[in-house]
Formats: sequence, structure tokens, C-alpha cells
Amino acid sequence: MLENQNVDANEIARSSPSYDSNLSGQYVFDLLARRRSASPLRLGEPGPGPDEIRKLLTVATRVPDHGMLEPWRIILVQGSAREKLSARLSAALLKTNPHQEAASSDLALRKIKTLLAAPLVVIVVSSVHPSVRILEWEQVLSAGAVCMNLIIAASALGYGSTWLTGWTAYDPAALRTLGVRTDEKVAGIIPIGTASEAQQERARPSLQKRVTMWSAT
Ligand SMILES: Cc1cc2nc3c(=O)[nH]c(=O)nc-3n(C[C@H](O)[C@H](O)[C@H](O)COP(=O)(O)O)c2cc1C
Repeated sequence: MLENQNVDANEIARSSPSYDSNLSGQYVFDLLARRRSASPLRLGEPGPGPDEIRKLLTVATRVPDHGMLEPWRIILVQGSAREKLSARLSAALLKTNPHQEAASSDLALRKIKTLLAAPLVVIVVSSVHPSVRILEWEQVLSAGAVCMNLIIAASALGYGSTWLTGWTAYDPAALRTLGVRTDEKVAGIIPIGTASEAQQERARPSLQKRVTMWSAT
């Protein structure tokens, strides 16, 4: 579906129903000012269709990338693959943690289901190129930028999403199940769908606490 089908980013902007060359700056600003993550359990159908997925991934991967290394890749999980992945991850969880108390293993199994409940799940993998002059840290940050772009783009197309990680992103057996190599890391597992309910706003950072002005002492 996605082979050789990169979408021109300008075309995406122009084809958007809300595009207006004068208003787009304000629109982007408002979107950023209002964006909220959605609860993964509240993300249902409809999810993005094939054209929208192409657009989302085209803008998600349009990120700062020192050295143009593309130090990330993306795994999509959709349709019946979600149930199969859920079953495989659950089996991996019970195998790696056979002595888990029933209550905590129930909770972990529910979390796997929650993770894969949305119509589309995008897994962003950080694939650092080892022996290049660009530091690993910078390559990892670029993968984070893919995640951030993706949730902003999803919000711009009217979809809810949330940037998750959890057990699935760190457990070796879960990573094998996902097809993530041992030299890679999961940067984010991002379910995308239509949010049935808007999230309440949460407390936001205090600039006073987080920002300082450097001055010569
Ligand atoms: C790398 C990363 C991993 C995260 N993993 C989880 C997670 O596993 N579970 C969770 O509830 N929130 C997780 N979050 C937090 C949510 O994505 C989100 O920031 C939070 O729900 C606040 O929503 P907001 O985007 O509206 O500020 C993660 C955030 C980041 C940056």
C-alpha cells in the first residue's frame, strides 16, 4: 500500500479542507495550543483510511534528521492483525512472567488489549546507525520527533491518538514478537482512531519553573 507512494507535503497542506495560506499559521498554532492525548480505550472507528495513513506517515517522517540518516522505521498494526498481535503478546507475557500474581497478569493482559484497541496502531522504532559521526542521542531525538509529528498530524486530520510505551516497548519477548531487533528501541506505540470523548485538560508546565534566562555571571 505504501510503496513508492510518498505524498508531496505541500500537496497535503493545499488539499486539506481547512487550508488557507493566510490562516494556516494561526491554525497550526491553535492546534498545538489545544492538542490533548486521547485515552486509548476511547479510540474507535473510524480510523484513518489508506490515503490518510499515507499523509500521516509522510508528515510524521518529515522531521529534523542530522546527517539525513533516517534513524527510525515504522510498523503498522491494523485490522485482524491487532487481535493476533494481542494474542502473541499475551502469550509472551505469560511465558516471561509465569509467576506473576493473577491480578497483576490480568492487568497486564488488559493493558495489551487497550494498546491494540484503536483502529490503527503505529509503532515508531528508533534504529540508530552505530558507527557514524552523528551521536546516538541526536538520532534518538529524531525518532521522538517522528512520534510528536504523528500525533500532531493525527490531531490535524481530526483523529485522537496518544504516545505510549509500557511493557510491550521494553520486554525482550514482546520486542521479538513485534519484530524489533535487539539493536533497536521502541520510541512510541501510538494508537490512532476517533475519540469518543474529549480528555479533560491537564495541568500544564509552569514556564516560571522551567525557563531561565542565561546571563553572564
Ligand atoms: C516516550 C513516552 C512514553 C509514554 N508512555 C506512556 C504510557 O505507556 N502510558 C501512559 O499512560 N502515558 C504515556 N505517555 C504519556 C502520554 O503520551 C501523554 O503525554 C499524557 O497522556 C498527557 O497527555 P497530553 O499529550 O495531552 O499532554 C508517554 C509519553 C512519552 C513521551
